[in-house]
Amino acid sequence: MIPTRDHCYVLFDKFKLPTQKKIHVEEVAKLANYFVKKFAVDSSCLPAGKARVSVDAKLVEAAALLHDIDKNVTKRPGERHPDTAVRILNELGFTEVAEVVRRHSLHAILDPRLAPRTWEEKIVYLADKMTKYEIIGVDHRFKLWYRENLPADAVKQLDASFPKVKALEQEIYQVGKINFTDIQKELQYSNT
Ligand SMILES: [Fe+2]
Ligand SMILES: [Fe+2]
Repeated sequence: MIPTRDHCYVLFDKFKLPTQKKIHVEEVAKLANYFVKKFAVDSSCLPAGKARVSVDAKLVEAAALLHDIDKNVTKRPGERHPDTAVRILNELGFTEVAEVVRRHSLHAILDPRLAPRTWEEKIVYLADKMTKYEIIGVDHRFKLWYRENLPADAVKQLDASFPKVKALEQEIYQVGKINFTDIQKELQYSNT
């Protein structure tokens, strides 16, 4: 079962998602939907055997909107983000969405058991790493994280993640036949 956009908004209220997070997840969903649209070019326009990948658009949108739903929810002992979101979503019966959300944290890409594998998981992961309160791209997003004066282990995690996130960015750009300039133009953002 996958919640509709309206049901996601009900969950925003139910779990008291902060306004800034609502802005963030809406932007992540906008970019994720854009990737899905670029992936889903009519295969009849393409040479035989060259059909682009098919992606579950509803799953991508719901996971993008709900990936940070645990921001204001009290964590149980041993839980860290996004464990609480995964628990809530599983309890609600949204198991497919929970699985995408489980694989969206920055560090997930460093762990073979957690790294995004499906296109839906990869799209939500990347869209999140390109977005703060607007779509700013992977390079700029990492720059902002580096400016946060994070502890040494978090900086190490950034160092290790960056090349993997860039590789994922290129993978998605290749399938969608897009680049960051296209995203900026088509979603009307500047690079500043
Ligand atoms: Fe998150
Ligand atoms: Fe996020």
